[in-house]
Amino acid sequence: MISVLHNQRVLLGVTGSIAAYKAPDLASKLTQAGALVDVILTDSAARFITALSFESVTGRRVHTDLWAADAHVQHIGLAEGAALLVVAPCSADTLAKLAHGRADNLLTITALAAHCAMLLAPAMDGGMWLHPAVQANLQTLLQRGAHCAGPAAGRMASGQTGIGRMLEPAQLLGHIRLALGAGGVLAGRQIVVTAGGTHEAIDPVRLLTNRSTGKQGFALAQAALDLGAQVTLISGPSALETPEGAVRIDVQTGQQMQRAVLQAAATADALLMAAAVSDYRPQTTAPQKLKRSATATTLALEPNPDVLAAVVAQRAQGGWPRVLVGFAAESENLLENAAAKLRSKQLQLVAANNISEPGAGFGTDTNRVTLLDAQGGVEELPLQSKALVAERICARVAALLQ
Ligand code: CTP
Repeated sequence: MISVLHNQRVLLGVTGSIAAYKAPDLASKLTQAGALVDVILTDSAARFITALSFESVTGRRVHTDLWAADAHVQHIGLAEGAALLVVAPCSADTLAKLAHGRADNLLTITALAAHCAMLLAPAMDGGMWLHPAVQANLQTLLQRGAHCAGPAAGRMASGQTGIGRMLEPAQLLGHIRLALGAGGVLAGRQIVVTAGGTHEAIDPVRLLTNRSTGKQGFALAQAALDLGAQVTLISGPSALETPEGAVRIDVQTGQQMQRAVLQAAATADALLMAAAVSDYRPQTTAPQKLKRSATATTLALEPNPDVLAAVVAQRAQGGWPRVLVGFAAESENLLENAAAKLRSKQLQLVAANNISEPGAGFGTDTNRVTLLDAQGGVEELPLQSKALVAERICARVAALLQ
C-alpha cells in the first residue's frame, strides 16, 4: 500500500504503441499500491493488448467503446472524481488529439470531461518524437498544465536507437506519485534528507563503514516527495534507486557529507539526518595496499565532524533550516540516550530506534521507532515498514513547519 495512491481513482488511458505491453504491469503496480484503476483502451491499443489483461490485474471493468449503450454517461462517470489521468503509452496520434481537443474516442472525450491533472508517457518510433508537429503538440499540453514523463533514449521496436521509449512502469509509478503529491502539505518546502553509511578509506582496498543500507533515508525522501516537497537526498554509497523527483548527491566520507549537507541545508526548511555517519576515520589513508604482517597492529583513528552540530552552528549565524530531525541508533538505554541527543544536538524531533531488536534497524524493510520531540512528547510507533515510519516522520515535520 502507498498512501498517496490509496483509494485514489486513476484513469489509465492506453493508446496504440508496442509499449502497450508494459501497461498491464503499470496497472498492476497501481492496483497493488491501493489505487482504483479504470483503464480506457483505444482501438489501436486493443490491437496490441487485450482488455482481459487489464481486467485480470485491476479487477475492474475496462472501457473501450465510445458507442456502448451507456457511453454517453460513461465518460462523465469516468472523469468525475478521478485523481489523475495517465496516458501510457501516449502515441503521437493521441498526443495530437489531446492537444487539439478532439473527442473522437472514449479516451479523448473523457480527457475533455476530466478536471484532474494529466500525465503523459509518450512512446513513438523513428524520430517521430523530435518532429516539430509532435513537439508543438507537447508544448501546447505542457502550457495547459499537463505533466510529461519521458520518453527515454534507447533501442526501439524498429531496431533504430533514439528518443521515444516509454519509461518503465516503476519509473512511471514515481512520476504518478509526484503528480498526485503536488499540492501536498509540504508543497513549496525544501527538505534535505541524508541516508546510508559513510566510507572512510584505510587503504585502496579497505574501509571503515557500518551496516546502514540507506533504506530508511530513501523512504523519508520518497515520503517527503509524496507530500509535495522539493527533496535533496544526500547519500553515502548505496545501491538503492533514487526516488523519482529527488535531487541526489552521492558522497563517500563523513567530511564530504558535511560539506554537502551544509550547502544544501543553508536554504532548506528541514534537514532529516538519517545517515549513519562514521564517528571516526583513519588518521591517514595508505596510498598503497597495506601488507599482511605476522604481528598485531593498531589503526590510528581521528574523529569525524558531527554534521548536525555543524548545521546548528551555521544556523546560529542567522540561517536555515528551521526543523532538524535526527536519528538515534541505540543498542541500550534507548529513550535516555535519544533524549540526550535531542537536547545536545538541538533537534526538534529524534527518531529513536533499538538496532538490536529483530525487524528494526539496519538493512531490514521494517523499523520500530519512538519519536521524541523538543516539548517532551513521546510517540511510540509500532513495528512497521520503513515507508510508513517515513510517512509519520514527514507528517510530524509538516506540522512543525506550519
Ligand atoms: N550524526 C551526525 N554526524 C556524525 C554522527 C552522527 O550528524 N558524525 C547524526 C546522525 O545522522 C543522527 C544523529 O547524529 O541523526 C545521531 O547519530 P548516532 O550515530 O546515533 O549518534 P552519535 O552522535 O554518533 O553518538 P554515539 O555514536 O555516541 O551514539
